[in-house]
Amino acid sequence: MTVLEEFGPRVTVVDHPMVLHKLSILRSKDTPCSQFRTLVKELSLFEGYEATRDLTLEEVEVETPICKTTCYHVDAGHDVAIVPILRAGLGMVDGMLELIPSAHIGHLGMYRDPETHVPHVYYGKLPNDIANRYVLIVDPMLATGGSSIDAIRYLREQGVKQLKLMVLVAAPEGLRAVLDADPDVQIYTCAVDERLNDDAYIVPGLGDAGDRIFGTK
Ligand code: URA
Repeated sequence: MTVLEEFGPRVTVVDHPMVLHKLSILRSKDTPCSQFRTLVKELSLFEGYEATRDLTLEEVEVETPICKTTCYHVDAGHDVAIVPILRAGLGMVDGMLELIPSAHIGHLGMYRDPETHVPHVYYGKLPNDIANRYVLIVDPMLATGGSSIDAIRYLREQGVKQLKLMVLVAAPEGLRAVLDADPDVQIYTCAVDERLNDDAYIVPGLGDAGDRIFGTK
């Protein structure tokens, strides 16, 4: 894990060798949809492992075939919610559920009014107790940061206190925008790329993550 000086301790880059290896296959334009999906799932699990490092533990007594011993469970008070931003965020849910099978899932679909630029949630279905959950927003690409900022704001309005944003590839512009918009959110990414191009795609990036996950191109 690396913390980059430019962004400070609220941004963690999960740059494990296996993550970088899988990311390089993910980026290739020749990687087919089925493999792309599998890689998004695997990278989400690896990143989720680091993003949940601060979950607290409680002691449990376990009897092995040899003797009783003290072991640890993730604190039952840490109820986790995973919130994918539609649609590409859906690709990260299975990997996260493999890591945390008891997590509940919320869904957020958003669009910006093209004239007023005011964000609207066109689909929002969250666990009833979302305010008390440890919430992980998932979306593979952090480009301008617009949808992440809207999602974070929406979840804060629902009372969420413990909030992290998990992406796979981030542009510096998006990281700065999200850090500026929310004073507490922590961001996890596997890579910080060079920049955005004129069409707001991440360079070098991997293209449109939603299209590549769902085979819509
Ligand atoms: N969304 C994507 O899927 N890819 C980008 O490069 C930027 C936003």
